[in-house]
Amino acid sequence: MKKEKPSGKILLLGERSFIADIAQKKFSTNYGLLDLTKIKKYGQVLKSNTGHEFVVLKPTILDLLRKAKRMPQIIMPKDAGQIAAHTGVSSGWHCLDAGTGSAFLSIFLGNIVKPSGSVTTYEKNKKFYENAKRNIEFCGLAGTVNIKNKPAERFTEKNLDMITLDMIDADKMVKKCKTALKSGGWLCIYSPHIEQQKRAVKELEKNKFAQIKTISTQQVDWQVSDYTHPRPSQIVHTGFITFGRKVL
Ligand SMILES: C[S@@+](CC[C@H](N)C(=O)[O-])C[C@H]1O[C@@H](n2cnc3c(N)ncnc32)[C@H](O)[C@@H]1O
Repeated sequence: MKKEKPSGKILLLGERSFIADIAQKKFSTNYGLLDLTKIKKYGQVLKSNTGHEFVVLKPTILDLLRKAKRMPQIIMPKDAGQIAAHTGVSSGWHCLDAGTGSAFLSIFLGNIVKPSGSVTTYEKNKKFYENAKRNIEFCGLAGTVNIKNKPAERFTEKNLDMITLDMIDADKMVKKCKTALKSGGWLCIYSPHIEQQKRAVKELEKNKFAQIKTISTQQVDWQVSDYTHPRPSQIVHTGFITFGRKVL
């Protein structure tokens, strides 16, 4: 396979990591100034003028998302990963995501469904909408993730492969979502509290969704050293994800 030449956004991995645009030519950090014109290939070690070393890598969507600005609470990669694992979302799917929040889930899904698929996402709060729009552009997904500053209840998209809801009163959207999904399409509802999860399941049952299932993911990060143990401080519970599939 032909080696790819670095272009656009690059990941500079050192004591701390940075995302830079190679077109900037110079990149200033608190570890010194980096001369980006010296970059010839991925994997190259670049030294700052104060002697700190950085490896030049091609950023993944998660490297970019780590640098995107969070406003409302995001769906964490462990939960986004479960949505992908349970639904089998793939390139070419047309999805709807509400509310957008910081657009982390929209961007994660956009990266999977591109180039021919799409994610349409609704955010009612103007400030969150503007921040999310910047995050989508920063991650290079403006052509795939279409954001609308409107209440999700007014969505008009049809024939969708998947709908993801992470918003208060998501259960009130279930009936409308069923009409907008293709046969075989998935509805995924993220609920931080069990009371919301129960309301979501009740609505999915009432609307005759199939393959209804709720999961929560407990991920334990380990500190690996001479005395290996789970990291003392970490978020264990994030939320419940309820899945339902439209069949008829
Ligand atoms: C927890 S955040 C979503 C986070 C998002 N999943 C992410 O990964 O970044 C919930 C968002 O839903 C928005 N929201 C709540 N009700 C809404 C509605 N009816 N229509 C559109 N957005 C709504 C809120 O303003 C908030 O930004």
